[in-house]
Amino acid sequence: MKNPCIRVLATGGTIAGKAGSATRHAYVPGQIGIDDLLAAAAALDMGAALSGVQIANIGSEDIGPAVWSPLHKATVAAIADPAVDGIIITHGTDTVEETALLLDLTLPTAKPVVMVGAMRPADAVGSDGLRNLANAVRVAGNPDAAGRGVLVVMGDRVFAARDVRKVRTRGTDAFRGFPRESIGLVTPSALDWFGAPWRTGDAARFDWPREWPEVPILPIWAGIEPEYVGRLTGPDTRGVVVAGVGEGNMPDPLRQPLRELVARGVAVVRASRIDEGLVDREPEDDANGFLAARALNPPKARILLQLLLASGVSDRAAMQAEFDRR
Ligand code: SIN
Repeated sequence: MKNPCIRVLATGGTIAGKAGSATRHAYVPGQIGIDDLLAAAAALDMGAALSGVQIANIGSEDIGPAVWSPLHKATVAAIADPAVDGIIITHGTDTVEETALLLDLTLPTAKPVVMVGAMRPADAVGSDGLRNLANAVRVAGNPDAAGRGVLVVMGDRVFAARDVRKVRTRGTDAFRGFPRESIGLVTPSALDWFGAPWRTGDAARFDWPREWPEVPILPIWAGIEPEYVGRLTGPDTRGVVVAGVGEGNMPDPLRQPLRELVARGVAVVRASRIDEGLVDREPEDDANGFLAARALNPPKARILLQLLLASGVSDRAAMQAEFDRR
């Protein structure tokens, strides 16, 4: 069997960062370019042919539509290229779950698309970057990785984009899946899937958006006053994601200004600020015109809501069906 050809699209993050010394508690992203990343990966002798494109070289806290667009374009081109078997995207870990869901919803599932990062810079003691990259090569070169949507490989585990979330600020075991845990285990020499691909032959669920509708996240805290709804929203607001307490709850006085937004055509989604927060539809959602984010955390619910609004979907049942989808 021929060696898989893998296109690596680099965006920066700690996997491309250096701390400068073993004791400095700091790191600078964008220190390692795609050529050096590819050279380091090639030296691992993984039996794959790698080619690369530098899309950006920044920390993922600075990633948004300006980077998402060229990244999406380059991924679409790589999927269409018959010489490419799989795609790896290197990315900072802080917002990788948002980019992963966005790409998951806007790409076909024909070829493996694997996102990977690192928690420790390349020159840190116990750096995880090269191992994660080797694991990503193992996954992206595996035909069985197609049909599972966009994947995230971190800490010897493979996660589906819809489930993955960063749950720790430090340590190499910083990612979890919710409600599904990891869907596979990987090392540079072995890959085990916990089940068969479930999205074989899927086309992209959404077209690439021509606009990014204004959708703020409203965090709920004990004692929040209803005025905050007005402070966060304006005439251009098209949606609001409530990062509620518990199962997407909020103090009762907030419901009135949110109902007024709904009456203006603004979509209001109840999500939870809790890491493993499942928010089901409740009778109050029918009464208030709200949507329930189900298993999506607030930043991911925001991405899905932006895509729905940008595609002109306004029917509440159709919107809710996209949040319910697994
Ligand atoms: C980032 O998200 O770019 C910084 C943190 C990381 O990559 O781990």
